[in-house]
Amino acid sequence: MIVSGRIVHEDWEALGYVAMQTVKALELLIFCALFSLAALYTLNQVRKPTKWVGRFFLGIMNASHSNLTDWGLQHVRIEKGFAILDVGCGGGRTIQKLAGLATEGMIWGVDYAQGSVTASRRKNAQLIRTGRVEIKQASVSQLPFPENNFDLVTAVETQYYWPNLVKDMQEVLRVLKPGGTLIVIAENHEKGKHNKLQRPVMGLLRTMNLGVDDQQELFSTAGYTNIQMFVKEAKGWICGIGEKPL
Ligand SMILES: C[S@@+](CC[C@H](N)C(=O)[O-])C[C@H]1O[C@@H](n2cnc3c(N)ncnc32)[C@H](O)[C@@H]1O
Repeated sequence: MIVSGRIVHEDWEALGYVAMQTVKALELLIFCALFSLAALYTLNQVRKPTKWVGRFFLGIMNASHSNLTDWGLQHVRIEKGFAILDVGCGGGRTIQKLAGLATEGMIWGVDYAQGSVTASRRKNAQLIRTGRVEIKQASVSQLPFPENNFDLVTAVETQYYWPNLVKDMQEVLRVLKPGGTLIVIAENHEKGKHNKLQRPVMGLLRTMNLGVDDQQELFSTAGYTNIQMFVKEAKGWICGIGEKPL
């Protein structure tokens, strides 16, 4: 209450209370803004690993995608002398596995994120030194290779990020030799066991959520032949295979 221009004791108390609530609201606002920024930054780093945060997740993915990759690779023939390309190579573990299978062949890896290229090169340093592995920074949309170059192209946990699925699958088709194979491996699909759980996270990561039929149609529309789909129901995993026509 103001008496003759003076603010009395109760008014100071009320003003203090309002000031404290305002500060608390501001603190909450700043916390929410910082939390959202951190979450957005982390999601972008998972999507396109460029900095140490992304490289940290690549380390986790190397471990967590290992069984999935082994399961998927069982569905294709890998000969000792094969020329193989791993698209979206991430932390480089698949490249290492492929080099262990095609023991007299050559493995290339591409990834559009500098952080993934660095991590993959580190993981495969010895194989790079002996000339069995080469890793380049490139997008699946523009592969830095001539046509008819690879016996096998692998894509593990990456296809759902590709910007133009049909065109990008056709770009892979271009670099495959006639009769060569593309294998797409993913730990989730539209009707997969864990889709309900994974879908919100995948939504935040802005990924595609294809079903088995969608995947089959995609391979076909992009021009592949001898298409096969495999699903591991117990895990919700999917593996799609298609060949470049002879
Ligand atoms: C989820 S990680 C999987 C990495 C690895 N294949 C694995 O199984 O652990 C996805 C990778 O795909 C890469 N990627 C996403 N979109 C890409 C694109 N358009 N061209 C090339 N790489 C891409 C990302 O940079 C990231 O390294």
